Amino acid sequence: MRERDMQPDHLVTVADFQEASRHAISEPAWDYITGGSGDEITVRANTSVFEERRILPRMLRETSSIDTRTTILGAESGKPFAIAPMALQRLFHPEGEIATARAAARNDIPFSLATLSSIEMAKVVEHGGQFFFQLYWLRDRGLMAEMLAGAETFGCRAVILTVDAPPLGHRLRDVRNGFRLPDDVYPANIVSEDDEAAESLRDSVDLTFDTSLNWDDLEWIKEHCSLPLVIKGLLHPDDARAAVEHGADGIVVSNHGGRQLDQAVTSLEVLPLIREAVGPDLELVLDSGVRSGRDVLLALARGADSVFIGRPALWGLAVAGADGVSQVLGILEAELLDAMSLSGTRTIAEAKELAVW
Ligand code: FNR
Ligand code: LAC
Repeated sequence: MRERDMQPDHLVTVADFQEASRHAISEPAWDYITGGSGDEITVRANTSVFEERRILPRMLRETSSIDTRTTILGAESGKPFAIAPMALQRLFHPEGEIATARAAARNDIPFSLATLSSIEMAKVVEHGGQFFFQLYWLRDRGLMAEMLAGAETFGCRAVILTVDAPPLGHRLRDVRNGFRLPDDVYPANIVSEDDEAAESLRDSVDLTFDTSLNWDDLEWIKEHCSLPLVIKGLLHPDDARAAVEHGADGIVVSNHGGRQLDQAVTSLEVLPLIREAVGPDLELVLDSGVRSGRDVLLALARGADSVFIGRPALWGLAVAGADGVSQVLGILEAELLDAMSLSGTRTIAEAKELAVW
C-alpha cells in the first residue's frame, strides 16, 4: 500500500483495513487474526462463497427510508450485525476489548465478550452497550459458575457456548511464527496476573479447557444461569435439531472463521438446510466470511436473522483502536443501506424475503 492509502480517509472497504492493519501490528499478531487452520481452504472458501452468490433485486418499491433496526439474541440493535466473540484483543491494540466495546456502543450494535478476553469482564462491560458472554467449557466449574453469575449481574443478554473448539485447530502460521503471548497479554477472566503465564494460546487452552463437552452438559449451564443459551459453531442440520431439543434459544451457524476444522463446509452453504431443520422461529446468527454490507444482506436472504462481524473488527482495532472499529462498522452499515435501497428492501423482514442465487 502507498503511504497515502494508509490514511484513515482512504480506507473505504474492509479489504483496505485488512491491508492497512498488516502494517500496524507485528506479523505474528496479524497472522493470528487473519490465518486459519491447515491449508486455509475453509478460510478462502468463507469469502469466495459470498462472492459467488448473486442478489435478485426488486424495483419501484419506494426505498426513500430504510429501517435496519432489529433484535439480536434478545438485544436491541440498530443493525442486523453484532461483534463476534474474539480472544485476547490487547494483542492488537493496548485498549483491546474496551475499544471494541466502545465502538459497538457508538454504532448501536451489541458486542460479545469472550471467555478468553484479555481484559476482565467487569472492566469491559462498563464501556459498552448491550453484550453477550461467550463461554468456553472449562475444567474449573466454579470459575464457569462465577463468570456466568457475573454475566447476569452485568446485564448480559445471552450466553453463547462455543462448541467447535477446543482443541484449537492447527494454525500453521502460528506454528511457523512460533507465536507466543507477550507477558502482559493473558486471558484475564480465567488467569490472574500472578499466575504462571502460559507461553502460547494453545498451552493456555490445553491447561484450562475441558474437551469432554457433550449435549448433557447444557443442563449444567441452564442450572447455573437463567440467561438465554445460544450454541455457536454448529454446521450439521441434525446438530441444529439436537440444539433445539436440548433447549437452546439460538444458534450461531459458524465454522469459526476457518480456524478449526479445515475443509469444513461454509456457513452460507449450510444455512438454508439449518433453517429448514429448526423451522422459522429459532434465531439464527451466521458468521465466517462476512466482509461487506452486501454479505450481510445475502446472509439474511439465505435464512439468517443477523450476522457476527469477526476479523474485520480486529483489523479496524489494529489500525486505529475504537475509531478504527467504528470506521469498519460504518463501512458495513453504509454498504448494507446501499444494497438494501438498490435491491428494494426497506426492512430486515423484507431483506429476508429477497431472492438470491
Ligand atoms: C475468533 N473466534 C472466536 N470464537 C469464539 O467463540 N471464542 C473465541 O475466543 C474466539 N477467538 C477468536 C480470535 C480471533 C483472532 C478470531 C479472528 C476469531 C471466532 C469468531 O467468533 C468468529 O466465529 C469468526 O471470526 C468468524 O469468521 P470471520 O468472519 O472473522 O472470518
Ligand atoms: C481462536 C480461539 C481462541 O479462534 O477461539 O483463536
